[in-house]
Amino acid sequence: MVTGPIVDSGLVLLREAGSVWSWDGEVPMPADERNTRLADARAAVTMIADRVDHDFLDAAPHLQIVANVAVGYDNIDVAACRERNVVVTNTPGVLADATADLAMSLLLMITRRLGEGERLIRSGEPWKWNMFMLLGTSIRGRRLGIVGMGDIGTALADRAQAFGMEIVYHNRSEVDPAIAARLGAERVELDELLATSDVVSLNCPYSDDTQHLIDAHALATMKPAAFLVNTARGPIVDEAALAGALSANIIAGAALDVFENEPEVHPALLELDNVVLVPHLGSATVETRGAMADLAARNVAAVLAGRPPITPVGATQPDDD
Ligand code: DGY
Repeated sequence: MVTGPIVDSGLVLLREAGSVWSWDGEVPMPADERNTRLADARAAVTMIADRVDHDFLDAAPHLQIVANVAVGYDNIDVAACRERNVVVTNTPGVLADATADLAMSLLLMITRRLGEGERLIRSGEPWKWNMFMLLGTSIRGRRLGIVGMGDIGTALADRAQAFGMEIVYHNRSEVDPAIAARLGAERVELDELLATSDVVSLNCPYSDDTQHLIDAHALATMKPAAFLVNTARGPIVDEAALAGALSANIIAGAALDVFENEPEVHPALLELDNVVLVPHLGSATVETRGAMADLAARNVAAVLAGRPPITPVGATQPDDD
């Protein structure tokens, strides 16, 4: 059972593994329809909007695998799946470049005030070039602090280094010394990263440990001229505190791909000019979504054929989502 539309190549692979039912509706699948379909399902291909919890699993007595079409799997109760011998897989690796591209784009958008420029043109207000119009901040020589130095954080560091940024990171573990040396990246404590970075990028998984990691205190620790970029998960940031910090100029700006109560956006953020808002587009390229669907399908095929999954998730979340 596939809980939402996925790229055709993934469906083709799934059909080679068994009979497939997929929900193609524009709205989320109603719970009763979902439960009816789960009654016979051996495999569920899920999206980040699905909550895979005890209710979901109760409806699925024959389930062998939940294949999440995302690298993040905070929507899945992994322990509950494990209790029932249901394998959980995600899609690491294949979306690192696309998400890092988006993080770099957001970093440039907020530091160069591109959203404001676009809004100005679209407003129809008269404008003409002048020396002081919409001056932004140069990033060469500035420090980028990456919270969560896994595949995506590392891919972002590669990009930022090419733009002349200095890299520091905060991670539970050291990154491969060869990678750290290539990037000239130093591992620092979170407080130091927040206090010294010109741009802070969140690239860590969402868990109980990272909920509201960026709260009013963390925002107050950042430099007044610093920017926050979040392409990870919304609830890592206390959105109300962020809106307060942005309107009080406690930090200079923020660029957000993800939101605390997605798809809702805190209304105060919508009123602010020093924030860029995009609708969870991190992995949204044709190529990447195809690769994600294919990897999820290959995980399903492996497990239904009695083989080990390709990208199983563990009981604990790694730093490198
Ligand atoms: C992920 O993979 O976790 C993304 O947020 C979905 O694109």
